[in-house]
Amino acid sequence: MRTRLPLAETIRSRRSVRRFRPDPLPDSLLDEILDTAVEAPSSWNFQSRSVVAVRDPGNREALARAANGQRQVREAPVTLVFVAETDSWREALDDICGTAVRNGAWNDGCARTTATAGAGFQDDLAARGLLREYAVKDAMIAATYVMLAAADAGLGTSPMNGWDEAEVKKVIGAEHRDDLAAALLLSVGRPAERRAHPGRRPRGHTVFGERHGRALV
Ligand SMILES: Cc1cc2nc3c(=O)[nH]c(=O)nc-3n(C[C@H](O)[C@H](O)[C@H](O)COP(=O)(O)O)c2cc1C
Repeated sequence: MRTRLPLAETIRSRRSVRRFRPDPLPDSLLDEILDTAVEAPSSWNFQSRSVVAVRDPGNREALARAANGQRQVREAPVTLVFVAETDSWREALDDICGTAVRNGAWNDGCARTTATAGAGFQDDLAARGLLREYAVKDAMIAATYVMLAAADAGLGTSPMNGWDEAEVKKVIGAEHRDDLAAALLLSVGRPAERRAHPGRRPRGHTVFGERHGRALV
């Protein structure tokens, strides 16, 4: 039985790996990590993201080609395509509001306000051409949750930006959907390599107090 590390240690020790063992991922383990994608927070709780698990060998090969031949897509037993859904908020939101009310998280008024104010917020994004950017935020935080859950379960992950979006969309059957955008590919499996930490710039380069560029003291 693996000892699970504290969260901060899991975050520090996670590495992007590019070599995977071919062992398939048990469904229960895949379910466990995908549940964390569903659990991830999202703007207005509109959950404007989804994830497609690509496991079929032919589809993995097609996805590897769409990802500039990156070997991790070919090797890993599953690659997850995180999808930003730019227009799903236009659907009826009764299920989201109903669940929040049943859970005691939102009252009826709050649910109504969220639905109307949220839709107004989204309309404004649409007018400014920002729907994609905002849906990508939801998709990326879901991917981050999955990366950490996978690390916690002893799995390796490889996040990727290097792919042709039109080709990726073809592989997942979304080529005719202008409302869906690929946000991130994430190969997941048993790692076949150990990677050293490439390091980060010093904290003072990245973390500020009150004003951007001013040291946090
Ligand atoms: C959004 C994003 C896109 C990335 N795209 C690729 C990619 O296409 N191919 C690749 O080999 N690594 C990719 N990486 C992995 C980074 O190179 C890696 O995270 C970085 O070097 C830091 O290493 P670490 O993840 O082990 O800490 C990506 C990482 C992120 C967060």
